[in-house]
Amino acid sequence: MNSEVVGIGLLGVGTVGSGVVKMLRENSEEITQRLGKKLIIKKVLERDPEKPRRLGIPLEIVTNSFDDVLGDPEVKIVVELLGGIEPARQYIIQALRQGKHVVTANKDVVAAYGKELFEAATAGGADLYFEASVGGGIPIIRVLKESLAANKFEEVIGIVNGTTNYILTRMSEEGIDFGEALRAAQEAGYAEADPAADIEGLDAARKIAILASIAFNTRVLPDDVFVEGITRITPEDIEYARELGYCVKLLAIARQWEEEVEVRVHPAFLPNSHPLAAVNGVFNAIFVRGNAVGETMFYGQGAGQMPTASAVVGDIMQVVRNMEAGSSGRFSCTCYLEKKVRPRGKITSKYYIRLIVKDRPGVLASIAGVFGNHNVSLASVIQKRTITSSEEQMAEIVLITHEVEEQNLQDALTVISGLSVVGSVENVIRVERG
Ligand code: NAP
Ligand code: HSE
Repeated sequence: MNSEVVGIGLLGVGTVGSGVVKMLRENSEEITQRLGKKLIIKKVLERDPEKPRRLGIPLEIVTNSFDDVLGDPEVKIVVELLGGIEPARQYIIQALRQGKHVVTANKDVVAAYGKELFEAATAGGADLYFEASVGGGIPIIRVLKESLAANKFEEVIGIVNGTTNYILTRMSEEGIDFGEALRAAQEAGYAEADPAADIEGLDAARKIAILASIAFNTRVLPDDVFVEGITRITPEDIEYARELGYCVKLLAIARQWEEEVEVRVHPAFLPNSHPLAAVNGVFNAIFVRGNAVGETMFYGQGAGQMPTASAVVGDIMQVVRNMEAGSSGRFSCTCYLEKKVRPRGKITSKYYIRLIVKDRPGVLASIAGVFGNHNVSLASVIQKRTITSSEEQMAEIVLITHEVEEQNLQDALTVISGLSVVGSVENVIRVERG
């Protein structure tokens, strides 16, 4: 092959894969000038040849067998955009072991099998890049690994799921309920037909597992992340948040302590003064606090065809530069520590608690007594609304706690929900620091 050309094997021409094809075509001149090399797609793996045909890809380079891609000596870089765990995981590992560089956008595989992938990359002396796996077009992985590499990272907090941020933004701006906002997200093409991974927080959990592993140099797996989705958030909660000076966001939070790391995904009341509070709609942002750099924030489109393709093609160019400099494989696994993940019960936070209780003298005192017995200190109590039913007048009360251990709070709530004066615990939402 012409030495001025670098051959690519593209696995998948779905949403992101077609974006990569378009970008390599439309920005070909700039890419070639900047690299001093031309990027040429040599093989495309797809089940349905109609998809690559529609993109103008010649059918003779299309295959439905990965062996054809692996066996092509002109393919130097395998770009995995199939999604899901298998066969993507096997294909990435086989390519790396064989010394082919890999670029992937696959958060599922990177989050759960990062260690295996890096072992294969080291074995093959190959590069593994995965910028698009977190935050779509936002260059956060390279920032943590390179630009801010001299820092000790104290915390990484992200709004890393566009679908849920869109839903919460619509609920907040229009006062609509979760179901209606979800339908709007589906109609707008943001939420998938099965939106479970987004709304249950699993997508964000995979992304924060990747970011925490890089920032804290210790392997964090998706199952290590405490996850709670947004399905229980109501317009009432959002309205209370607003009155108290907060917005409601699905946050992916990773913090480093002396011996442990804390990693969680859940909806939270976020002070309006926090930089992440201004991130609305489908946009993503990642807030990073390093001991030298202080606070930084990276903002942009966390998904979508062209923003994601931007990250993928940027990675491909990085791989080519490494090949040219003879420095392939310069990033191996950086998880040299084995920190424990802080158990959920030990995590501390402030909480917002909304209760429906009997509207009688002494009720607040009995609830406050239970919290006191469990070492949960209350910062404020609001009674806004009375609810008159045929049986008895009820009241809605909202409590904000000081910073407390989760286990103490859960124990107190178990007792409180059994009190005869308590109708229901309507919601419990963590309140993030400013
Ligand atoms: P997609 O639209 O479903 O595209 C995947 C393509 O790969 C489809 O054409 C699919 O064909 C094909 N494919 C899957 N398995 C295959 C196999 N075993 N053999 C041959 N072809 C196969 O997915 P996408 O949205 O482009 O996502 C690709 C990756 O990027 C995923 O890892 C995703 O998490 C990540 N990502 C996506 C976005 C985004 O905005 N879409 C953002 C960030 C990261 P079939 O339809 O026949 O299965
Ligand atoms: N489903 C994700 C989101 C995009 O809504 O942000 C892919 O990571």
